[in-house]
Amino acid sequence: MQTLAWALAPTWVMDRCAQRLGETFTLTFWPSGMKLVMVSGPEAVKTVFTAPPEVAPSAAGNSPVRPVMGPSSVLVLTGPEHMRQRKLLLAPFHGERMREYEQVIVEATRKDMASWPLQRAMRVQERTRSITLEVILRAVFGVEAERMGALRSAIGELLAPMQPWRMVLFALRRPSMKRPPGAIGRALDRLDAVIYEELCKRRAQEDLAQRTDILSLLMQARDEDGEAMTDGELRDELVTLLLAGHETTATSVAWAIERLVRHPDKLARLVAEIDAGRDGGAESYMTAVVNETLRVRPVVPIVARMLTQELEVDGYALPAGTRVTPSIYLTNRNARVYEDPALFSPERFEHSGPETFAWIPFGGGIRRCIGASFAQLEMRLMLATMLRELHPSLPRDWRSAGGRRGRRGELNRRRAITLVPSQGGRVVWSKRR
Ligand code: HEM
Repeated sequence: MQTLAWALAPTWVMDRCAQRLGETFTLTFWPSGMKLVMVSGPEAVKTVFTAPPEVAPSAAGNSPVRPVMGPSSVLVLTGPEHMRQRKLLLAPFHGERMREYEQVIVEATRKDMASWPLQRAMRVQERTRSITLEVILRAVFGVEAERMGALRSAIGELLAPMQPWRMVLFALRRPSMKRPPGAIGRALDRLDAVIYEELCKRRAQEDLAQRTDILSLLMQARDEDGEAMTDGELRDELVTLLLAGHETTATSVAWAIERLVRHPDKLARLVAEIDAGRDGGAESYMTAVVNETLRVRPVVPIVARMLTQELEVDGYALPAGTRVTPSIYLTNRNARVYEDPALFSPERFEHSGPETFAWIPFGGGIRRCIGASFAQLEMRLMLATMLRELHPSLPRDWRSAGGRRGRRGELNRRRAITLVPSQGGRVVWSKRR
């Protein structure tokens, strides 16, 4: 029963357990008997995230993402191999590099917006997904990449069969190291073929050293021993960046719009700031809106670490072999930290940024999301580009929905390992001027 509820409505399960059992509790899954020790107090989260990596490595090594992302993916590796890949991957996401992606983000958003229907309801997530896919493809492979069409359709084919029910069945099975069967496996074969062809062509190109896209940077990167990444490693990291780097951001932008249309005063404040050209800095209302969206509607609900030694967490001595999972959803709503935690209130972040271990939409410690700055930049620029030209409002059926349903808005629905708005962030757009 708990397993089915978790597969379909993880936030409901977490809310109920936290109400009955407090900040730390255990979930047990059928048929594997797998247990997750869920923690959500900032002190316990800090203990887990700051534990030495050999004591609390990632539990993603056995997760269903491994056969898709590959054995060398930074997401599934642990220990020194993880640190090697992580260091190689971090360079393209450094502050200065980020400026190069700004124009790509604004252009991709504008181009997509040109085809949006006006005065009728639309699921904003379907469009933001296509924008962020375009952005990550261009950032990873370069704006001028020749095989963009082939890459776009190969990724599209891979994501299409990842329907929620398929992923639930996939997740309930014992983790397998093999390539997934059926449509997902075939789509992976096609994507791999395009990537390996791209790698081969690029090695032959003379301008590799001048190129600034992520793939070219990774091909030139060397580890501490002077070794370059192998083609297999490059393939796994590219698939990881493409998959980890677009749905998550697209969903977060959809959640931001879903929240803003239900809080017209906050939407108006944000639009006034955008119109005045003040929506950029760390102190801006835009940054507060992005932080608050990621707090109250985190896209990834939990992260997992597998203990290799006993660790004391929140007063419990957890033995080796325990999967300890900081709950992003519950930590971001901890009532000891946040007043009225379910309320969407960007104002709470206006004068002080979020606390490291009480705001964890990007996880933490040495596994913290590599693309966190990229994602926040993308969210800010996509929101500003959309709201400068268009005004979002609630579709008619939502306007008449009063009471709890109206205030609560769209529910959290599971899509693969993420939480998305149950109606895809339905809004009606109209032209501002
Ligand atoms: C709003 C958007 C995003 C959210 C909410 C998000 C969230 C996360 C979370 C929760 C983790 C696991 C952290 C942990 O285990 O402690 C993660 C890891 C990761 N993310 Fe993101 N992410 C986002 C966007 C991106 C983007 C844009 C990229 C790349 C372009 C990216 C690349 C990665 C990678 C490579 C890892 C693995 C890091 C490691 O294991 O060392 N993510 N992300």
